[in-house]
Amino acid sequence: MTSITIPFPDDWHVHLRDGAMLDAVVGYTARRFRYAMVMPNVVPPITSVADAAAYRDRILGSAPSDAVDFRPVMALYCSDAIDLADLRTGIADGVVAAVKYYPAGATTNSEAGGTSLLAFRELFDVLADTGTRLLVHAESTDPSIDIFDREAAFLDNQLAPLCEAMPELLVTVEHVSTRAGVEFVAAHPHVAATVTPHHLARERSDLLADGMRPDLYCKPVINSSEDQAALVEAVTTGDPAFMMGTDSAPHPTTAKYGPKAKAGVFNAAYGLEVVADVFDQHDALSQLGAFVSGNGCAIYGVEAPEHTLELSKETMDKDLAAELSTSAGDSVVLFGTEEASRWTVR
Ligand code: NCD
Ligand code: ZN
Repeated sequence: MTSITIPFPDDWHVHLRDGAMLDAVVGYTARRFRYAMVMPNVVPPITSVADAAAYRDRILGSAPSDAVDFRPVMALYCSDAIDLADLRTGIADGVVAAVKYYPAGATTNSEAGGTSLLAFRELFDVLADTGTRLLVHAESTDPSIDIFDREAAFLDNQLAPLCEAMPELLVTVEHVSTRAGVEFVAAHPHVAATVTPHHLARERSDLLADGMRPDLYCKPVINSSEDQAALVEAVTTGDPAFMMGTDSAPHPTTAKYGPKAKAGVFNAAYGLEVVADVFDQHDALSQLGAFVSGNGCAIYGVEAPEHTLELSKETMDKDLAAELSTSAGDSVVLFGTEEASRWTVR
């Protein structure tokens, strides 16, 4: 039996939502992860320190008491609504861990986002001054650009000029999904990236070839097998610029299986098993701890965890829950049941 002990993981990109959905999903993250970089694209978006502190309190209030060492950290939603003095205070007080830029219209709840990265230079000066990371949803919203080329286009047209203008700014390319993204990170010493379980384990034929799969639809859209291979290579070779960010993003099945599926994959439940399976298939389990813990700790400057997890690959398949339900009567599909049926986490 294959078995490995890893440092207790961190999730550097997660959507916990609010209300009944928060109550239903937070336990999956709180029990499996230590640090959780909580995305601010709730409605209305988190743009002030007071909003961030109140949201963190709601998250901790709904987290289960048996969570091992759960530490939600908060990002503000990059918009003109951010007051720069408030931002400085939030960073100094440790309430604000990062700022997240969404191109307006690129993804779920991004309507309040920006139309140009370079328009936020003053805000980014505060980040550069304080060593705070700018988290970027790197996707062009130019309708003339093919959906599968939008990450590369954003990196070329928006992030490259910003990195050139502000080489000291610390940037995380969130949910990197292409070879172009991997190459961009390699070329920029202050740029790191999160990688999701689903972008590592699936490619666009899985999404589109055998019946269209709303449960695999997310932004950026899962790309080609070539792109998948580049992501897998970056993480399994232990490149320190790449860390786990699940981008777990629950949507009610009614919103996923309607005429216009919402983008987002809910993988907080089984994302770790999915990632372990990818590393195992590439004979790289020895690098798993770096990807799910060590690299992110170094990138975010936090201490290593005190706890560990053991992952064992079982020979017998298990029957696992495929959905969760919320107290509001919604259900959410759980990504990764197939991989999770082969692994046990203790
Ligand atoms: C995320 C969501 O649902 O909030 N969706 C997604 O497809 N990844 C937003 C995001 O991170 O793009
Ligand atoms: Zn996300």
